[in-house]
Amino acid sequence: MSISTTRELFSHELADAMSAEQQVLKMLPELQKEALHRELKQALKDHEGETRQHVKNLQAVFKQLGESPEETTCFGMKGLADEHKALHEEKPSPEMLEMANVTGAIKTEHYEMVMYTDLVQMAKDLGEPECAQLLQENLDQEKAMAKRVDALSKTIAKEAKSREKELVGARNGRRA
Ligand SMILES: [Fe+2]
Ligand SMILES: [Fe+2]
Repeated sequence: MSISTTRELFSHELADAMSAEQQVLKMLPELQKEALHRELKQALKDHEGETRQHVKNLQAVFKQLGESPEETTCFGMKGLADEHKALHEEKPSPEMLEMANVTGAIKTEHYEMVMYTDLVQMAKDLGEPECAQLLQENLDQEKAMAKRVDALSKTIAKEAKSREKELVGARNGRRA
C-alpha cells in the first residue's frame, strides 16, 4: 500500500500500534512470572487487562474509520522484546532479570506514550474526535502504568543497592 496522505499514514500508524499492543500482550505473562515483587507482578497483571482493552479500543477506532488493520510489525516493540531475549542469554540472576525487566517496562510504556500522543493528535487533525477519545484512553493508561513501574523501579534499585552493600560488608568482614 502506498502512503501519500495523512489519512493513509494514520491507518498505517494505527496498524503499527495494533502490532505493538499484541506484542506487549505476548510479553506480559512471562514478565509476571519473572517478577519477584508482588506489587510488580500485580502491576503487570493489571496492565495485561488494560492492554486487552487497548487492542479493543484500536479495533473500535478501525471500525469507526470503516477499515481493518493491515498486517504489519511494529519494529520498535520488536526491538524491546529482542532486548529481553538478549538479556536472557546473559544468564542474569533472578534479581537482575527483574531489574532489567522493570527498565524494559518503563521503555515500553514510554514508547507507547509517544505512539498514542502522536495518534491522538493525528485523529484530532483529521476531524475524528471519537477516534481521538479512544486513543486518549489508551494514552492515559500507558501514562499511569509508566508512573507505576517508575516508582517500583526506584524501590527495587534501592533494595539492590543495600543488598550489594551488605554483601560487600560481609566479604570485608570475612577478610578481617
Ligand atoms: Fe498499551
Ligand atoms: Fe502499556
